[in-house]
Amino acid sequence: MELVNGFTLMNYAKEKGLVLPAFNTTNYELTVGIVKGFQATGLGGYIAISSSNLKLSNPKIISDMVHSAMADISTPISLHLDHGKSFEDVKACIEAGFTSIMVDASHLTFEENIREVQRTVEYCHFYGIPVEAELGAIQGKEDDHVSEEDTKTNPDDVQEFVERTGCDLLAVSIGNVHGMDLTPDLDFPLLETIASISKVPLVLHGGSGIPFEQVRKAKENNLIKVNYGSDLRQAFIGTFGQAYEKNHNEFDIMSLSKEAIQSVQNRVEVIIKEVNIS
Ligand code: G3H
Ligand code: ZN
Repeated sequence: MELVNGFTLMNYAKEKGLVLPAFNTTNYELTVGIVKGFQATGLGGYIAISSSNLKLSNPKIISDMVHSAMADISTPISLHLDHGKSFEDVKACIEAGFTSIMVDASHLTFEENIREVQRTVEYCHFYGIPVEAELGAIQGKEDDHVSEEDTKTNPDDVQEFVERTGCDLLAVSIGNVHGMDLTPDLDFPLLETIASISKVPLVLHGGSGIPFEQVRKAKENNLIKVNYGSDLRQAFIGTFGQAYEKNHNEFDIMSLSKEAIQSVQNRVEVIIKEVNIS
């Protein structure tokens, strides 16, 4: 199946009442595990790659890899640039066929963040691609990027930010954290307030480690997308780590890669089902 446009995927989520998981990939085997997980559940979502990770593989490689992994599947999937850190990355991803974009300028001042999102929106909308923007800073480790900053989204800024930027999805900071080292502590009253103000659906980063019932609760507050990175990476890396612990002479990379794909698929299936149980 071809990649699905991000706007089409958002409409699919609204029609079916789903929260869409976005799974970060890095390599082919991880991608295959994610795709198989989507296919097994029959539900759609995002395959995402962050700007940091593009230092390892460029957008064209990622796009080709995802297309190839998706050859036999029938569930709707968008290819998403996660934490887009530069306008160059945004342009390269659009050119490579990505169907959804995030611009992350949340480390800048409010006005600078707005300007950066505005020019990304102008560019992406010309190509019919939706844009996710972030307001507030999320603490923790995302690929090789570590942020000490923990600034919750200020609800008083939400309306102006969404209206002036023209973004299509809003990533919020409500006590969610990146990685496995910090404990998430979601502020639901804040989420409710933001949801009542924002004209666009909300996105929760740092899905790994957030109890599923909390994601389901967040779904009642206009949450359309939840991001998972570390969870699948642990499933993937764990396969190799455990095999090496058992046998320091292990070298059967083929069998272990198949096992790792299966572990990722299992986690993907659990996550997709758990966040959408009603
Ligand atoms: O953008 C990606 C996610 O926010 C990943 O966060 O590694 O805590 O699941 P996570
Ligand atoms: Zn994130």
